[in-house]
Amino acid sequence: MGDFDEAVAENYREAGEILTTVMAETRELIEPGVTHLEVAEYAEERVHELGDGLAFPVNISVDAEASHATPERDDETTFDDEMVCLDIGVHVDGYIADAATTVDLSGTPELVEAAEEALAAAIDAAGPGVPVGEIGAEIEDVIEAYGYTPVYNLSGHGVQRYDAHTSPNVPNRGVDRSVELQPGQAVAIEPFVTDGRGKVGEGASEEIFELVEDRSVRNRSARQALEQIRGFDGLPFAARALDSSRGEMALRRLTQQGIVKGYPVLTEQQGRLVSQAEHTILVREDGIEVTTDGLFD
Ligand code: CO
Repeated sequence: MGDFDEAVAENYREAGEILTTVMAETRELIEPGVTHLEVAEYAEERVHELGDGLAFPVNISVDAEASHATPERDDETTFDDEMVCLDIGVHVDGYIADAATTVDLSGTPELVEAAEEALAAAIDAAGPGVPVGEIGAEIEDVIEAYGYTPVYNLSGHGVQRYDAHTSPNVPNRGVDRSVELQPGQAVAIEPFVTDGRGKVGEGASEEIFELVEDRSVRNRSARQALEQIRGFDGLPFAARALDSSRGEMALRRLTQQGIVKGYPVLTEQQGRLVSQAEHTILVREDGIEVTTDGLFD
């Protein structure tokens, strides 16, 4: 793989700029009493106004939740004194920016600082030819210096056109030293920090889905739902993004048939707090570009 074509790099940059703007606006809305749904819908509408679309539904993960949580249809859940991770994905012509920040309403600001500092150290270390495990080691060192633990079984990942999750994996600890970053890769680096043991498990609920095997179905409402799902271009989508609750029932049927895959909410197994910080970078021949620069200003 060579370096990026400039037109492609420009799409990645534009996606990153839109995400940075939407993140700054959306963070301001998060406070006790406000519903998760109004925050998610605000961010998603802004992404649709400014860009080509969502790379995945807005993730709002509170306290022990780490990833894959998004409000359900008519969700009335409100924010409380919690640790709130906000993870947003934007694409421009399929080229993705994926970034996250954490809003602390819980009174544990060090957990957020640790994630942001770990991300800054990871960005400093990243470059063409750098082993991903070296980036992971930087992340782990910063987090441990705070007395916390990285979430070991979550990692950063590549993004490609219309694909929100590809190789390389960027671990949040010093393993996998044989895999190196290559020019032409777009990579989301995302340290997760916890005051627990550092392992997430799958919860019971699923609100985020992805089309994995497009084939014909006989049931009429399943067929209609599948028609709409094809419009998400293979990217993850929220159950609430379907037109109706009937469509959602069809979605569960498509999931049982293996046509659609669900992503269970991932939760820290001891129920401890989780924070997150994430940037998307472009690995170039002569260094890196952070497409979501300014996210933590
Ligand atoms: Co993300």
